[in-house]
Amino acid sequence: MTNFISEIKRTHSCGALRATDAGQTVVLFGWVASRRDHGGAVFIDLRDREGLTQVVFEADVSTEVQALAHELRLEFVIGVRGVVKNRGGNVNPKLATGSVEVHATELCIFNRSEAVPFPIEDRVDTAEEKRLAYRYLDLRRAPLQQALITRSRMNTLTREVLSAQRFLELETPFLVKYTPGGARNFLVPARLNPGKFFALAESPQIFKQLFMVAGFDRYFQIVKCFRDEDLRLDRQPEFTQIDIEMSFVEQNDVFTVVEGLLSKLWKEILGVELPTPFQRMPYDESMRLYGNDKPDLRFGMPHHDLTALARSHEGGSVALFAETIAQKNGLLKAMVVPASANLSRADAEKLEELARSMGAKGLARAKIAEDGSWTQSPLAKTITPELRLAINAQVGAKAGDLLLLQMGPAAQVHTVMANLRVHLGKKLGLIPPHGSGGQWRFLWVVDPPLFEYDEEAQRFVAAHHAFTRPHDTDVQYLETDPERVKCWRYDCVLNGFEIGGGSIRLHDPAVQARVFKAMGISDEEAETKFGFLLQALRYGAPPHGGIAIGMDRLAMLLTGAESLRDVIPFPKTQKGSDLMTDAPGDVEERQLRELFVKSVAPPSTR
Ligand code: AMO
Repeated sequence: MTNFISEIKRTHSCGALRATDAGQTVVLFGWVASRRDHGGAVFIDLRDREGLTQVVFEADVSTEVQALAHELRLEFVIGVRGVVKNRGGNVNPKLATGSVEVHATELCIFNRSEAVPFPIEDRVDTAEEKRLAYRYLDLRRAPLQQALITRSRMNTLTREVLSAQRFLELETPFLVKYTPGGARNFLVPARLNPGKFFALAESPQIFKQLFMVAGFDRYFQIVKCFRDEDLRLDRQPEFTQIDIEMSFVEQNDVFTVVEGLLSKLWKEILGVELPTPFQRMPYDESMRLYGNDKPDLRFGMPHHDLTALARSHEGGSVALFAETIAQKNGLLKAMVVPASANLSRADAEKLEELARSMGAKGLARAKIAEDGSWTQSPLAKTITPELRLAINAQVGAKAGDLLLLQMGPAAQVHTVMANLRVHLGKKLGLIPPHGSGGQWRFLWVVDPPLFEYDEEAQRFVAAHHAFTRPHDTDVQYLETDPERVKCWRYDCVLNGFEIGGGSIRLHDPAVQARVFKAMGISDEEAETKFGFLLQALRYGAPPHGGIAIGMDRLAMLLTGAESLRDVIPFPKTQKGSDLMTDAPGDVEERQLRELFVKSVAPPSTR
């Protein structure tokens, strides 16, 4: 038999042949994606990462090839040599190669396949658990192949764009010192230092700042980060960032670089021109209108803050309103579901259930009647007509509209209303599919507060991290009114997803000391937590800032995938395990002893 691979080399991919190639002798390698054996001729679709090509073994090929062709089964990996012929009237418009077929003269079976546990098709009918357990087969499916090919392109383009702007691709360690605060770290016992632990880096943050101190000026890295958090569709325990840091910059300079990079990705991968600069929105406005700092701007239904109004009416005879305005952090918010949505009573009750599942005590509602009065509402009887009319006017409610109200501690009201808005947006079909009709709503959320109040700890803590630069004009309030201090932190949001976040860093040791003080962190505590960075900042740190973009989230949005798991080759499940390798797994007592670690997990879980 002729020797495929060593003598007969591949001439084309399985997605390459066109009508103009008719008459050529070609060699294709790939997997049997489908087969029809009519006793005489055998037809197969041959698959590789570029596509499918129909291959025919006519009844009159050599008996040797005929015999082999009859043996072919799904997922056998083979090589064929043959002649390209036009399919004439039998063109398959669904395939890029659909106008031709290869009439094989030679065939080599490189390897056979057992019957696969699920069909390798574009559609997914198989449970995800099963697909993850056989991920290498799942990855043969075209949508996953396309997603990973896109990721590869994203990597290449990112390197091209950033290198062209003098960014250096530098590496940082994964095994780092554990520092409290931020995301929860994975810990790694250090065998050579008994009883001590490394943390797996949750991001290269401190090291990239040290690169700036060292004078590298512009750094980037496409880097794995590790966070031991509860997982969601847009969260994985190990994920990839495009991490960037720059010296001698202000916020606008960082935005320009990111907008340039994202525009290039969208242009090259989707052929879409993104309008720049991206829209910007102050954090306070985002919270007020949408209840979170990653609003999906593809649809409306903004929130209305009624706290001031209720206060000016002293609660308008509604006990719950009065309670809310009496609280320091009390908030009263409303959302209008337009009459056109035709929400039934049962629908509204389901909304209340949803609100309760998010920790709300309930969901006050009112239907607006022709004369502006409220119906179907327990509030209707008690609320003063003045406040009722004032609310109708402020939210612009019309007859038939449904008013949804939420009151209580601000953080909870924001969360419940933010989730309700997105839920309603989906339910009422207000959210256009990603990307359709230019619906790529990029947004910079800017100027958030430097601190947030930690009720548990009874003190202010850094809302992001302790090295974010406050606005110069607000530094004066650090001691007197810390809540008022805004900072140079920014999040890049796309269609309701936070795709990146960063800040201009605090490089001035004097202001740094005041920030720590405002957070109730003593000099000693600061030294133990952040010693080496604080020290480095005292040796001539340049003004600097940066950002990290979530590569997996970008890939998910660029490819229209539903979950990060669809754009990560070997992802973890919601429970943080790998169903293919069965990780995390058991280790032997002996290994633990070597690491000076003792397991206290109940035996049933071991
Ligand atoms: P941050 O923590 O905001 O910033 O992370 C940056 C971006 O990374 C993505 N991301 C994740 N993606 C998938 N799974 C996760 N568990 C996950 N966590 C975060 C998000 C997010 O916007 N060092 C700072 C950046 C800086 O200040 O320069 C940082 O890591 O898209």
